[in-house]
Amino acid sequence: MSRDITKIRKCLFPAAGYGTRFLPATKAIPKEMLPVLTKPLLQYGVEEAISAGLDTMAIVTGRGKRAIEDHFDISYELEHQIKGTSKEHYLTEIRKVITNCTFSYTRQIEMKGLGHAILCGETLIGREPFAVILADDLCDNESGDSVLAQMVALYDKYNCSIVAVEEIPPQDSNKYGVIAGTEEAKNIFRVTDMVEKPEPEDAPSNLAIIGRYILTPDIFDIIRETKPGKGGEIQITDALLAQAKQGKVIAYKFDGRRFDCGSVDGFVEATNYFYSKVK
Ligand code: UTP
Repeated sequence: MSRDITKIRKCLFPAAGYGTRFLPATKAIPKEMLPVLTKPLLQYGVEEAISAGLDTMAIVTGRGKRAIEDHFDISYELEHQIKGTSKEHYLTEIRKVITNCTFSYTRQIEMKGLGHAILCGETLIGREPFAVILADDLCDNESGDSVLAQMVALYDKYNCSIVAVEEIPPQDSNKYGVIAGTEEAKNIFRVTDMVEKPEPEDAPSNLAIIGRYILTPDIFDIIRETKPGKGGEIQITDALLAQAKQGKVIAYKFDGRRFDCGSVDGFVEATNYFYSKVK
Protein backbone atom coordinates (compact mmCIF):
# COMPACT_ATOMS: atom_id res chain seq x y z
CA MET A 1 0.00 0.00 0.00
CA SER A 2 1.47 3.40 -0.90
CA ARG A 3 1.65 6.15 1.70
CA ASP A 4 -0.28 9.38 1.25
CA ILE A 5 2.55 11.88 0.80
CA THR A 6 0.22 14.86 0.89
CA LYS A 7 -0.38 14.24 4.59
CA ILE A 8 2.03 15.93 6.98
CA ARG A 9 3.68 13.49 9.37
CA LYS A 10 7.20 14.83 9.81
CA CYS A 11 8.38 17.73 11.91
CA LEU A 12 11.81 19.30 11.55
CA PHE A 13 13.45 20.95 14.55
CA PRO A 14 16.43 23.15 13.67
CA ALA A 15 18.38 23.08 16.92
CA ALA A 16 21.96 23.76 15.91
CA GLY A 17 22.23 27.45 16.84
CA TYR A 18 24.73 28.64 19.43
CA GLY A 19 22.16 30.28 21.74
CA THR A 20 24.59 33.09 22.51
CA ARG A 21 21.94 35.15 24.29
CA PHE A 22 21.84 32.46 26.96
CA LEU A 23 25.55 32.19 27.63
CA PRO A 24 27.02 30.93 29.88
CA ALA A 25 24.07 28.49 30.35
CA THR A 26 24.37 27.36 26.74
CA LYS A 27 28.10 26.74 26.82
CA ALA A 28 27.66 23.01 27.43
CA ILE A 29 23.85 22.67 27.35
CA PRO A 30 21.87 23.15 24.13
CA LYS A 31 19.48 26.11 24.31
CA GLU A 32 16.67 23.74 23.29
CA MET A 33 17.26 21.71 26.47
CA LEU A 34 16.74 24.63 28.85
CA PRO A 35 13.68 23.80 30.97
CA VAL A 36 10.56 25.84 31.48
CA LEU A 37 9.57 24.41 34.87
CA THR A 38 10.71 20.79 34.56
CA LYS A 39 10.40 20.25 30.81
CA PRO A 40 12.99 21.17 28.17
CA LEU A 41 11.85 23.55 25.42
CA LEU A 42 12.35 20.87 22.79
CA GLN A 43 9.99 18.46 24.54
CA TYR A 44 7.26 21.12 24.49
CA GLY A 45 7.86 21.39 20.74
CA VAL A 46 7.72 17.63 20.19
CA GLU A 47 4.49 17.39 22.19
CA GLU A 48 3.00 20.15 20.06
CA ALA A 49 3.94 18.22 16.91
CA ILE A 50 2.32 15.07 18.32
CA SER A 51 -0.82 17.06 19.14
CA ALA A 52 -0.95 18.02 15.46
CA GLY A 53 -0.93 14.35 14.43
CA LEU A 54 2.78 14.13 13.50
CA ASP A 55 4.83 11.11 14.52
CA THR A 56 8.24 11.50 12.86
CA MET A 57 10.61 13.97 14.49
CA ALA A 58 13.69 15.10 12.55
CA ILE A 59 16.19 17.10 14.54
CA VAL A 60 19.07 19.17 13.17
CA THR A 61 21.72 19.32 15.85
CA GLY A 62 25.31 20.52 16.03
CA ARG A 63 28.43 20.05 18.08
CA GLY A 64 27.79 19.83 21.81
CA LYS A 65 24.12 18.90 21.41
CA ARG A 66 24.24 15.24 22.37
CA ALA A 67 22.00 15.82 25.40
CA ILE A 68 19.11 16.11 22.92
CA GLU A 69 19.53 12.53 21.70
CA ASP A 70 19.90 11.22 25.24
CA HIS A 71 16.73 13.00 26.32
CA PHE A 72 14.59 11.23 23.72
CA ASP A 73 15.91 7.80 24.65
CA ILE A 74 15.50 5.34 27.50
CA SER A 75 17.81 5.85 30.45
CA TYR A 76 18.04 2.27 31.70
CA GLU A 77 19.89 3.01 34.90
CA LEU A 78 17.47 5.76 35.92
CA GLU A 79 14.40 3.73 34.93
CA HIS A 80 15.69 0.80 36.97
CA GLN A 81 16.40 3.00 40.01
CA ILE A 82 12.95 4.60 40.22
CA LYS A 83 10.80 1.70 39.00
CA GLY A 84 8.05 0.98 41.49
CA THR A 85 8.84 4.09 43.60
CA SER A 86 6.71 7.19 44.10
CA LYS A 87 8.96 9.03 41.66
CA GLU A 88 8.15 6.91 38.63
CA HIS A 89 5.40 9.27 37.44
CA TYR A 90 7.99 11.98 36.71
CA LEU A 91 8.96 10.00 33.62
CA THR A 92 5.43 9.30 32.36
CA GLU A 93 5.24 12.19 29.89
CA ILE A 94 8.63 11.67 28.28
CA ARG A 95 8.02 7.91 28.04
CA LYS A 96 4.81 8.61 26.17
CA VAL A 97 6.69 10.86 23.75
CA ILE A 98 9.38 8.24 23.13
CA THR A 99 6.83 5.48 22.52
CA ASN A 100 4.58 7.50 20.25
CA CYS A 101 7.05 8.79 17.71
CA THR A 102 10.41 8.18 16.07
CA PHE A 103 13.44 10.46 16.18
CA SER A 104 16.16 10.91 13.63
CA TYR A 105 19.10 13.30 13.68
CA THR A 106 21.48 15.03 11.39
CA ARG A 107 24.15 17.60 12.09
CA GLN A 108 24.61 21.08 10.70
CA ILE A 109 28.37 21.29 10.49
CA GLU A 110 28.60 25.06 10.08
CA MET A 111 25.98 27.44 11.48
CA LYS A 112 25.07 29.20 8.25
CA GLY A 113 21.57 30.26 9.26
CA LEU A 114 18.06 28.90 9.62
CA GLY A 115 17.55 28.36 5.89
CA HIS A 116 20.74 26.31 5.77
CA ALA A 117 19.72 24.33 8.88
CA ILE A 118 16.42 23.45 7.18
CA LEU A 119 18.29 22.35 4.06
CA CYS A 120 20.43 20.08 6.25
CA GLY A 121 17.17 18.34 7.23
CA GLU A 122 16.43 17.34 3.63
CA THR A 123 17.94 13.88 4.06
CA LEU A 124 15.53 13.22 6.94
CA ILE A 125 12.44 14.73 5.29
CA GLY A 126 12.62 13.67 1.63
CA ARG A 127 10.02 14.86 -0.88
CA GLU A 128 6.97 15.49 1.24
CA PRO A 129 5.41 18.51 2.96
CA PHE A 130 6.63 18.95 6.52
CA ALA A 131 6.33 21.12 9.60
CA VAL A 132 9.11 23.15 11.21
CA ILE A 133 9.18 24.08 14.88
CA LEU A 134 11.74 26.42 16.40
CA ALA A 135 11.61 25.14 19.95
CA ASP A 136 12.78 28.42 21.45
CA ASP A 137 9.44 29.90 20.36
CA LEU A 138 7.22 28.26 22.93
CA CYS A 139 3.53 28.29 21.98
CA ASP A 140 0.42 27.49 23.97
CA ASN A 141 -3.27 27.71 23.23
CA GLU A 142 -5.42 27.26 26.28
CA SER A 143 -8.71 27.43 24.45
CA GLY A 144 -8.32 24.89 21.65
CA ASP A 145 -5.97 23.23 19.17
CA SER A 146 -2.23 23.80 19.42
CA VAL A 147 -0.71 26.31 17.00
CA LEU A 148 0.77 23.58 14.80
CA ALA A 149 -2.52 21.64 14.79
CA GLN A 150 -4.25 24.80 13.55
CA MET A 151 -1.68 25.10 10.76
CA VAL A 152 -1.93 21.44 9.71
CA ALA A 153 -5.73 21.87 9.38
CA LEU A 154 -5.08 24.94 7.22
CA TYR A 155 -2.62 23.04 5.03
CA ASP A 156 -5.35 20.51 4.17
CA LYS A 157 -7.28 23.41 2.67
CA TYR A 158 -4.51 25.47 1.00
CA ASN A 159 -1.85 22.89 0.09
CA CYS A 160 1.01 25.37 0.15
CA SER A 161 3.63 26.69 2.55
CA ILE A 162 2.26 28.36 5.68
CA VAL A 163 3.99 30.68 8.15
CA ALA A 164 2.61 31.56 11.58
CA VAL A 165 2.54 35.30 12.21
CA GLU A 166 1.75 37.57 15.12
CA GLU A 167 1.32 41.30 15.52
CA ILE A 168 4.39 43.01 16.92
CA PRO A 169 5.11 46.55 18.12
CA PRO A 170 6.67 48.47 15.17
CA GLN A 171 9.98 49.03 16.98
CA ASP A 172 10.56 45.25 17.14
CA SER A 173 10.45 44.67 13.37
CA ASN A 174 14.25 44.31 13.12
CA LYS A 175 14.11 41.07 15.14
CA TYR A 176 11.80 39.20 12.75
CA GLY A 177 10.88 38.33 9.20
CA VAL A 178 7.94 40.61 8.38
CA ILE A 179 5.28 39.89 5.75
CA ALA A 180 3.00 41.87 3.44
CA GLY A 181 -0.15 40.15 2.25
CA THR A 182 -3.80 40.36 1.35
CA GLU A 183 -6.31 39.01 3.83
CA GLU A 184 -8.22 36.14 2.19
CA ALA A 185 -10.21 35.13 5.23
CA LYS A 186 -10.19 36.08 8.88
CA ASN A 187 -6.55 35.82 10.09
CA ILE A 188 -5.39 34.23 6.80
CA PHE A 189 -3.20 36.24 4.41
CA ARG A 190 -1.83 35.43 0.95
CA VAL A 191 1.78 36.61 1.26
CA THR A 192 2.98 39.07 -1.39
CA ASP A 193 6.26 40.13 0.18
CA MET A 194 8.50 39.29 3.10
CA VAL A 195 11.52 41.12 4.50
CA GLU A 196 14.06 39.77 6.99
CA LYS A 197 14.63 42.01 10.02
CA PRO A 198 13.56 45.35 8.45
CA GLU A 199 14.01 48.63 10.27
CA PRO A 200 10.60 49.92 11.45
CA GLU A 201 10.39 52.44 8.60
CA ASP A 202 10.94 49.67 6.01
CA ALA A 203 8.61 47.06 7.55
CA PRO A 204 5.80 46.12 5.14
CA SER A 205 3.36 45.46 8.03
CA ASN A 206 3.29 44.66 11.75
CA LEU A 207 2.91 40.92 11.10
CA ALA A 208 6.05 39.01 12.10
CA ILE A 209 6.88 35.39 11.35
CA ILE A 210 7.35 33.22 14.44
CA GLY A 211 8.88 29.76 14.74
CA ARG A 212 6.15 27.62 13.19
CA TYR A 213 6.12 26.74 9.49
CA ILE A 214 4.65 24.24 7.10
CA LEU A 215 6.81 23.90 4.02
CA THR A 216 6.37 22.14 0.71
CA PRO A 217 9.45 20.14 -0.33
CA ASP A 218 10.34 22.38 -3.31
CA ILE A 219 11.68 24.71 -0.62
CA PHE A 220 14.87 22.59 -0.52
CA ASP A 221 15.67 23.35 -4.18
CA ILE A 222 14.96 27.02 -3.57
CA ILE A 223 17.20 27.19 -0.47
CA ARG A 224 20.00 25.56 -2.47
CA GLU A 225 19.81 28.54 -4.86
CA THR A 226 19.44 31.15 -2.10
CA LYS A 227 22.44 33.38 -1.51
CA PRO A 228 23.41 34.44 2.03
CA GLY A 229 21.30 37.43 3.07
CA LYS A 230 21.02 39.51 6.23
CA GLY A 231 23.92 38.76 8.61
CA GLY A 232 25.67 36.61 5.98
CA GLU A 233 23.25 33.75 6.81
CA ILE A 234 21.05 31.74 4.46
CA GLN A 235 17.64 33.00 5.46
CA ILE A 236 14.46 30.93 5.20
CA THR A 237 12.58 34.20 4.63
CA ASP A 238 14.50 34.77 1.38
CA ALA A 239 13.65 31.26 0.16
CA LEU A 240 10.00 31.63 1.13
CA LEU A 241 9.84 34.88 -0.82
CA ALA A 242 10.43 32.90 -4.03
CA GLN A 243 7.37 30.74 -3.19
CA ALA A 244 5.39 33.82 -2.17
CA LYS A 245 6.03 35.40 -5.57
CA GLN A 246 4.20 32.41 -7.08
CA GLY A 247 1.31 33.03 -4.65
CA LYS A 248 2.20 29.90 -2.72
CA VAL A 249 2.65 31.14 0.84
CA ILE A 250 -0.08 31.70 3.42
CA ALA A 251 0.48 33.64 6.63
CA TYR A 252 -1.72 32.64 9.52
CA LYS A 253 -2.43 34.76 12.58
CA PHE A 254 -2.82 31.94 15.05
CA ASP A 255 -4.94 31.51 18.17
CA GLY A 256 -2.81 31.25 21.27
CA ARG A 257 0.28 32.72 22.88
CA ARG A 258 3.91 32.57 21.92
CA PHE A 259 6.91 33.19 24.14
CA ASP A 260 10.31 34.10 22.74
CA CYS A 261 12.34 31.77 24.94
CA GLY A 262 15.49 32.65 22.98
CA SER A 263 15.48 35.88 25.03
CA VAL A 264 15.74 36.14 28.80
CA ASP A 265 12.57 38.25 29.10
CA GLY A 266 10.51 35.78 27.06
CA PHE A 267 11.92 32.84 28.97
CA VAL A 268 10.96 34.37 32.34
CA GLU A 269 7.49 35.24 31.00
CA ALA A 270 6.99 31.65 29.81
CA THR A 271 8.14 30.28 33.15
CA ASN A 272 5.66 32.49 35.05
CA TYR A 273 2.86 31.62 32.63
CA PHE A 274 3.34 27.85 32.89
CA TYR A 275 3.87 28.07 36.64
CA SER A 276 0.58 29.93 37.05
CA LYS A 277 -1.11 27.17 35.05
CA VAL A 278 0.00 24.41 37.40
CA LYS A 279 -0.58 26.34 40.64
P1 UTP B 1 18.24 31.93 16.63
O1 UTP B 1 19.00 32.95 15.91
O2 UTP B 1 17.12 32.34 17.52
O3 UTP B 1 19.15 30.96 17.51
O4 UTP B 1 17.73 30.85 15.57
P2 UTP B 1 20.62 31.09 18.00
O5 UTP B 1 21.53 31.56 16.92
O6 UTP B 1 20.90 29.77 18.61
O7 UTP B 1 20.46 32.15 19.19
P3 UTP B 1 21.34 33.42 19.58
O8 UTP B 1 20.81 34.54 18.73
O9 UTP B 1 22.78 33.08 19.33
O10 UTP B 1 21.04 33.62 21.05
C1 UTP B 1 16.42 30.31 15.56
C2 UTP B 1 16.46 28.80 15.52
O11 UTP B 1 17.21 28.33 14.40
C3 UTP B 1 18.23 27.42 14.80
C4 UTP B 1 18.47 27.72 16.28
O12 UTP B 1 18.92 26.55 16.94
C5 UTP B 1 17.09 28.16 16.76
O13 UTP B 1 16.28 27.07 17.11
N1 UTP B 1 19.42 27.64 13.96
C6 UTP B 1 19.84 28.91 13.69
C7 UTP B 1 20.10 26.56 13.46
O14 UTP B 1 19.73 25.40 13.69
N2 UTP B 1 21.21 26.78 12.68
C8 UTP B 1 21.66 28.03 12.39
O15 UTP B 1 22.68 28.16 11.67
C9 UTP B 1 20.96 29.13 12.92
